[in-house]
Amino acid sequence: MAILIRVLGAAAGGGLPQWNCAGGESAAVWRGLREGAPSAPPSSQSSVAISGDGRRWSLLNASPDLRAQILATPALHPVAAEEAAPRRSPIKEVVLTDGDVDHVAGLLTLREKTPFRLIATRGLHATLARNPIFNALDPALVPRVDAALDAPFALESGLEARLFSTPGKIPLYEEGGAAPETDLETDGTVAVEATDGARRVVYAPCCARVTDAFKARVAGADALFFDGTLYHDDELVVSGLGAKTGRRMGHISISGEDGAMAALRDVAVGRKIFIHINNSNPVWRAESAEARQVRAAGWEIAFDGMELSL
Ligand code: MLT
Ligand code: MN
Repeated sequence: MAILIRVLGAAAGGGLPQWNCAGGESAAVWRGLREGAPSAPPSSQSSVAISGDGRRWSLLNASPDLRAQILATPALHPVAAEEAAPRRSPIKEVVLTDGDVDHVAGLLTLREKTPFRLIATRGLHATLARNPIFNALDPALVPRVDAALDAPFALESGLEARLFSTPGKIPLYEEGGAAPETDLETDGTVAVEATDGARRVVYAPCCARVTDAFKARVAGADALFFDGTLYHDDELVVSGLGAKTGRRMGHISISGEDGAMAALRDVAVGRKIFIHINNSNPVWRAESAEARQVRAAGWEIAFDGMELSL
């Protein structure tokens, strides 16, 4: 077997460029789209598809851009010949890492009467249950399967998976008025580890802090997809795009002494790849000083359509 991975989307919530953003990295992409030379290719909101056999696929998160992502990914087209039913899909399940809009809204795209399993922790299922719009997914066809933290379970795509907690916070839409805790280690924000028995990938798009436990879990993995939301903790504030720091959003920064590059520097992983990259992040421009730093530190930057075969 193998672990096949298709990056469906590399961007954080909002995508690149973001619909209402005339600043940050979005500005040059919008201008380039009008004039024919964007500073970076437009990028959709983060999700990957994984498979052990290339026929049946598991989605890690379901982004608001899912329909376009399926169109752009032949492996996910409903053309498999072994079943007679006209409604079918190689997508056999969706595994969630958190309840944020950019990771669950695409579930609504999958509401057209085709079975798949919706796998998440108990806490994340409770979040979905508080949102009645997800009742559009017929429970007779879309069973909501609990995955306990740290307990291995089989994916229909032929791999074995396991969820483990990463520091994070509750979804923005559940914050109410109060400032939330941003460094919670609960089953509300998790990473997905998947293995074919020989190789191993870890998918962690939301992580507020690199813990020793996280380092131990990813050590020796063949690939790590990791939270690359912001390069600098304060880049939204400094660029005038927003009032929140990365810390306030529950996202570690790429740079800095307590950032992701430093924290994971000595952890041996086959390929280290940043994903869930915000439209404020200069690493979108391949020739920026920040993108060079990332590459010099041995990291890659995910892009829509990126394929890995481990
Ligand atoms: C995040 O990653 O912090 C969220 O996607 C923010 C949001 O819900 O817009
Ligand atoms: Mn997000």
